[in-house]
Amino acid sequence: MNQERKGSILVLLGPPGGGKGTQAARLAKDLGWVHLSTGDVLREEVRRGTELGRQVRQIMETGELVSDDILGRIVLDRLAHLDKPGCILDGYPRNLDQAQFLEKAKGDRRLVVVSVEVPEETIVKRLTGRRFCPRCGTVYNVCFSPPQVQDFCDQCGVRLERREDDREDVVRERLRVYRESTLPVVQFYADRPYFRRVDGDGNPEEVYGRLKEAVETLVQ
Ligand code: AP5
Repeated sequence: MNQERKGSILVLLGPPGGGKGTQAARLAKDLGWVHLSTGDVLREEVRRGTELGRQVRQIMETGELVSDDILGRIVLDRLAHLDKPGCILDGYPRNLDQAQFLEKAKGDRRLVVVSVEVPEETIVKRLTGRRFCPRCGTVYNVCFSPPQVQDFCDQCGVRLERREDDREDVVRERLRVYRESTLPVVQFYADRPYFRRVDGDGNPEEVYGRLKEAVETLVQ
């Protein structure tokens, strides 16, 4: 492993619908870092109909976790090709084995961890109302951030779509998987000096302010 310091990795933990993607996209832009959403990488494989996409499609549609081997390969590959001073990991690690894997895969990079915390009732509302533009990827919410014209993207005018795993029954399964597999990851990091909790309830602007402040104290 190359021992030269190569920058920082921010692990953004939080429940499905906790706002990780929304906040990570903005933070990555502000910091000039890479935003690596493992969910987005997998969905792109599904959309392109690749061999990997065919393997993971059904698992994702039912809200279960894709295998650690597949995720490990994705994360290693992306970290090996980082061309920015830092990377925000959105959606990884999701269980204790992945957290252990990351300890080695990070090499000499500094690791900081933030858990964005949101009550479950809020999450169900956020996810069942989420829509996205299949062309530019902009994310909307029918309750909290609707497009100007119902069902159509403000930027592209394309009809918005809904993720297969945002049906209420699947959302509840994803929350169960989060409690079972990912909350132990929050515990794994909880007493480390490079860990912070952020209240993710509130409007995106408020949450962003809290997140930015927490990250600044960790990476200064
Ligand atoms: P992934 O894509 O990572 O899904 P997730 O973790 O369930 O998270 P979401 O993308 O649903 O939510 P988010 O926290 O990013 O919230 P967002 O900002 O979009 O994973 C999908 C699947 O891939 C997994 O189920 C699994 O199968 C597989 N997978 C991925 N990584 C894996 C791994 N490491 N191991 C194994 N399998 C893996 O916001 C949600 C909605 O709320 C939006 O509509 C948004 O506009 C709205 N919103 C956001 N913030 C606010 C706010 N403050 N107020 C009001 N509305 C808000």
